[in-house]
Order: sequence, then structure tokens, then C-alpha cells
Amino acid sequence: MCGIVGIIGKQDVAPLLVEGLKRLEYRGYDSAGIATLVNGGIERRRAEGKLANLARLLEDKPVAGGIGIGHTRWATHGVPNERNAHPHATQRVAVVHNGIIENFQELKAELTAQGHVFESDTDTEAVAQLIDHHLAQGLSPRDATAKSLERLRGAFALGIIFAGHPDMMIAARQGSPLALGYGEGEMYLGSDALALAPLTQRISYLLDGDWAVLTADGATIFDRDGATVTREVRLTQFSGALIGKGQHRHFMLKEIFEQPEVIGGTLNTMLNPAERTITLPSLPFDLGVVNRVRIIACGTSFYAGSVAKYWIEKLARLPVEVDIASEFRYREPPMEPGGLAIFISQSGETADTLAALRYCRAHGQHTLALVNVPESTISREAEATLLTLAGPEIGVASTKAFTTQLVVLACLAVGMARSRGAISGETEAEICQALAEVPARVAEFLRRDDEIRLMAQGISEARDVLYLGRGASFPIALEGALKLKEISYIHAEGYAAGELKHGPIALIDDSVPVIVICPTDELYEKTASNVQEVVARGGRVVFFSDQEGVDRLASPPFAAMALPAVNPFVAPILYAIPVQLLAYHVAIAKGTDVDQPRNLAKSVTVE
Ligand code: AGP
Repeated sequence: MCGIVGIIGKQDVAPLLVEGLKRLEYRGYDSAGIATLVNGGIERRRAEGKLANLARLLEDKPVAGGIGIGHTRWATHGVPNERNAHPHATQRVAVVHNGIIENFQELKAELTAQGHVFESDTDTEAVAQLIDHHLAQGLSPRDATAKSLERLRGAFALGIIFAGHPDMMIAARQGSPLALGYGEGEMYLGSDALALAPLTQRISYLLDGDWAVLTADGATIFDRDGATVTREVRLTQFSGALIGKGQHRHFMLKEIFEQPEVIGGTLNTMLNPAERTITLPSLPFDLGVVNRVRIIACGTSFYAGSVAKYWIEKLARLPVEVDIASEFRYREPPMEPGGLAIFISQSGETADTLAALRYCRAHGQHTLALVNVPESTISREAEATLLTLAGPEIGVASTKAFTTQLVVLACLAVGMARSRGAISGETEAEICQALAEVPARVAEFLRRDDEIRLMAQGISEARDVLYLGRGASFPIALEGALKLKEISYIHAEGYAAGELKHGPIALIDDSVPVIVICPTDELYEKTASNVQEVVARGGRVVFFSDQEGVDRLASPPFAAMALPAVNPFVAPILYAIPVQLLAYHVAIAKGTDVDQPRNLAKSVTVE
């Protein structure tokens, strides 16, 4: 996902723009650039690859100017190179953009026919050329922008500066998040509060359809109808300090090791360990009377929702449907009013999940967001929000957000069950006790990280890997496969262990490692027999269970690790850790870019 920063400052802004872009690196990108106004004219510096390349270019060719825009580009249209890097500009205007302009070909053809010469393959350049066209007709920057915005279709967050106007900048938001930052005699814009944290904690988020004219003294915000509106200014929790890796080699490893702390911190918002009860935040709807639950999300967040299905159905005796957001939103399912739709999203900005939320809201559902970013769009547009307190997750591969999502969902399942009289106080106390012990059990297992690193050596040469699990361990198998795929680039598939005989067992030979998630719960024997079927066919099984499960296994696997024994209800949270570490160490062995894997973005704000 692209990142945007903009500054109207009192000093040369180039270094600050680069600092802001550094805080957006986690989103994934493949080129970067800035533009400032020098003596009224537009100056650009752009570079392919990482920000270090742009910084080197600026050392060789510094650029002055007290107003400027910056961008990290995650390529959608046009290969990642300098020519396609943002900002895109003409003599009159420079633009940075996050999103996709769906009708850019039509605009490009029209503008080309009118004599505009395009230099790049991007959709964004059509925005710059369209605004330029209206400026050339004598319209003011504000009117030229307003007229251009009317023509744009698709998703965009825009930062725009104009030659000869060093005192103003325009921002616009349609579908992709954009925040304004308020300084002392300075104004800023950025894709999120993290980018602006070094400059200010006073932030307001534009809503869809908003656009704003910024000067050093403030901003005038207009809605899609051109009416002047105000947007709440709030203090964000992000500090200005660049989030570091601590003593870890990668953000992902740091975030894996933060899990005992953030799981505990998130639990503390709802679990009372002394009374062994769960207290949910007050919600604007009664969990005791909703007639059905839908959970909608993408990627790892979808797997968290898939675990919650088992928990909620088992405890609250409520039917739960879990949907991939990109499928749900186009299936247009019929919906009886009064249902509860839960949207899980670490970033709170995933386009498909947001679209699904809007569909559910339009169809009379109660909407509940489960996010890691309080000010995010999904949180703002849902009726209510539950927060994971994972802190900023920088690694593209989600880890601590996943386990804190599971913790919140476990508490929600207990709260739902109790509000429906479906569980006894004794059952609630038992689950609370198990949840309260999870941080310590996770910390205990993390001390065995080196065993996973050694185990990873036997996986890193594989071309295909299979993950198996049953019950609530099945989504953990899916999540383990996703982790491996996205950071080591090895093909991996998660399967319900009971499905093995229905096809996948044909894959088994000694070249295919089979990772089995198998705590000693009521499904242990069934999964253990699947292990025997795999071992009998020469498959290399890596078996994750507890000591009892490892001891009871009839046929010796290729490798086995006994995790701390836990109540089966909380096993999915604990068993996420070995599959995260396994993926991490395999990726290290493969030499891939663990924190910013190829082709991936931290938050997918475009379809
Ligand atoms: C997870 O490791 C991936 N980075 C990806 O699947 C992610 O979970 C998905 O894009 C959803 O993101 P969200 O939670 O921010 O909505």
C-alpha cells in the first residue's frame, strides 16, 4: 500500500518528508519520491527501491523549499522504477496518490487528445494532467482541483502542491485513508498517524469525499458536496520516536516476542483474573438477542475469525458464518435485520473488509469492528469497536495482532455465551483461568525459539509444505501455511486433517514436510491416525502437541515439539507461536525480506 506525507513548514521540508516516509515503510513499497516548491517552481527527487536510495539522491542533489509532498509507492499500474515513482507532475502541479483511479485510461486518452504528454504508465499521472488542464484554462488551484475530483472514479488519497503557490496544499480522500496534522504555524498531511507522529500528535481524519485546502495556519475542509465541514481533531497515541526493532533482527521477530506482553495487556481490558470473569465494553446492541453472527475479514484476520466460529458456536450456541470479505461483498447475501456482523482488521483500512461493513450496515446488521488502530476507518464506521492492544505492527506478516485478535474473540465468545445464559459461572471461570495463563505459556515456549530455528533447516529446501489441524486447530494450520507462503515464498497449504484422505494424501512423499497442529483435545486420536497415514507413506511429519500428545504418538515423526499443556480452549492462541517462528526461521534460511516480503503490502486499501 502506498504512503503519503505532506508538509507546509517554516523550514526546508525535504528531510522531514523522508522521516515521515520512513514511518510508512512498513506498508510495503518499491519506489519513493518527494516534490517541493523552490522559488515557486516544482522540484522533484524520485528513486526506485528503498528509501535509502532516495536519501542518497537527496545527499547528491539536495532540494530546498518549505512546502512539499512525499510518497512511497506500492506499484499497481506500471513497473516500479523512477519514471513511475511519485510525485507525478507537470510544470504547474505535483501529485502523490494512494489508491487506484479506475477510469484513468479514459482520462488519459482524453487529455492526450488535448495535447497533454504523459511520461509514466501510472494512473496517478492522469490526476496531475487533469488538474493541469484546468489550471491552464485559468481556474484557481482550488477550483481546478474541485473540477478534477468530480471526474475521478475509484479510490484515492491525494496530496497536491501548485507552482507559484508556496502557501497552500490540497488533500483529498475517497476510499484510501488520509489524515491532517496540526502543528504550530505548520500543517501536515499523511496516510496515517504514524507518518505524522514525529511532527504532531494532533490529527484529524478526512472522511470519504472530503477534500481540504491547507495553509500554514490550518485547513478548510469541504465534503463531497462542497460544503465546509469540520472534522474532529484528536490526540493520537503514537510517539514520534521511530519504532525500532529493539535487540531483534527484524520487526516480525520483535513482534513475535512481544506477544506475552500484548496478549496480557489486551486480556486485562476484559478479564478479571481475581473473579475469573469477563467484562466486555458496553455495546450499543444486546449480545443476548442477536439471532446470528457473521465474521468477515481477510487473510490472517479471517483465520482469527475462523477460530472464533468454533468458540462462539460451542459456548454461545449461536450459528456463526465466517466470510472472506472479497467474496462476501460481491455475493450480496440476503440478510435478516438484527444480526451481528463482526469485522476483524489489524489496520482497520482493508478495502474489502470496509466494503463488507458498509454492505452489512446498509442491510440492517449490528456492526462490530475488531481493530488494532483505534482511529481507523473500519473502527469509525462500525457501530462499536473492540480493540487489540498489540501496538503498531510493522512487520507485513501479522503475528501479535493475530494472537491479540484471538484473545479478544475468546473474551467476546465468553461474554456472548454468558449474556445468553449458555454457560455456567464455573465454565466461565475455567476459561478465564486458562486465558490468564496464556501469556506465561507463550513466554515459556518462546524460550525454545532455537529448537524451531534448527527444525526450520529441514523445511527451507522444500518446494511444497502441508499444514494439518482439526477443529479450532484447522484455522491455525491455515494461518501457518499463510505465514510460510508470505515470507519464505514456499508454497504451503493448510488442510483440515480429516480431508487428507479426500485428495491431499496423494501429495505425500519424503519431499513434502507435513506440519501437524495437534494439542491433546477430543480430536487428538483422529489427527494422530492421520499422522500415521502420512508417516506410513514416507511423509516427513513435524508434530506440534503437548508432552502427552507427543508421548502417545504411535509412529515416530520426522520432528516433534511438546508445547506447554494448556486448556484445549486456548490452544489455538498458543499454537500460533510455533507456526509463526517456523515461518520466520525458514524465511531467514531462504534469505528473503522478512519484514517487507516481495509483492506484499501491510494493509490492502485497494481492491
Ligand atoms: C497477514 O500476515 C497478511 N499480512 C494479510 O493476510 C493480512 O492479514 C490481511 O491483509 C488483512 O489485513 P487487516 O487485518 O489489516 O485487515
